[in-house]
Amino acid sequence: MAEFYSSYKGIYLPKCCTPEGLKYWEQFTFRPDDIIVATYPKSGTNWTLDLVPLVLSGGDSSLVDSVPTWKRTPLIGEKDEGLCVISETQPSPRIMASHFHYNAMPESFFQVKPKVINVMRNPKDVLVSCFHYFKRDTNYHVASSLTDFLHLFLEGEVSFSSWFDHVKSWLNVEDKSHILYLTYEDMLQDLPQAIKKTAEFLDKPLEDEAIERITDRCLFKNMKKHNTFKDQILDHSAFYRKGIAGDWKNHLSEKEGQLVDAVFKEKMKDVDFEFTWD
Ligand code: A3P
Repeated sequence: MAEFYSSYKGIYLPKCCTPEGLKYWEQFTFRPDDIIVATYPKSGTNWTLDLVPLVLSGGDSSLVDSVPTWKRTPLIGEKDEGLCVISETQPSPRIMASHFHYNAMPESFFQVKPKVINVMRNPKDVLVSCFHYFKRDTNYHVASSLTDFLHLFLEGEVSFSSWFDHVKSWLNVEDKSHILYLTYEDMLQDLPQAIKKTAEFLDKPLEDEAIERITDRCLFKNMKKHNTFKDQILDHSAFYRKGIAGDWKNHLSEKEGQLVDAVFKEKMKDVDFEFTWD
């Protein structure tokens, strides 16, 4: 599998993380009020990347309605012409996204400890979502069948390597004071509560009316409608496929589901977090 990926600090990367991009981020200086949305791919990154600026603007959607995520939020590891590049002069708070494991973050991150919003999702839904998305994005490698992909996923032989190691790396951080942990499923079940938690974490108290407005703008059907990806190579629909919890049941057999559960149980046994997705 290694032939399909470049490797960085032991993690497989998709083609969009180039040597130039990695060098740029290695030399990058964070600020304490930078906000990093840290996720394993397909865990609700773009959802959160709309939610955060909406919280900061008190529910004013003009930015998220008009500027695509990829033009306003850089992905750590990427630096390419046409994609968003953050500047030293950009006013705070700057918002970034990262799919890196905690230990692969750039050096300045550990010194500065910027704010992190970590979103996790049921790995069974993550792998199904990855399979569909990777087929459409040529930066990623994907197996020809979901069953083959499932095994690669469980072995960490995919872009951004093991879901288990990724999630564990962020949950096991010693100083969690600068990290907010959310799950995709909790966001689905109670979005206003996730917005409130984010607002508190970002010291941006919100009126109920603003929370309602943000909730409405962040509903799957409304995010899907705002086609901000239209002038990019990838179609908007690739990022907004189904937007539900438990879609894995439509794609994995009972046995495959049990296999993921067994690996989950073994790999996550030393993790102190109440996963609520099942
Ligand atoms: P599915 O492929 O299961 O539909 P990411 O942004 O990290 O790439 O994650 C993409 C996944 O989040 C996709 O999952 C997408 O549909 C889902 N998603 C995006 N916006 C959402 C929203 N507002 N509500 C629920 N799910 C959303």
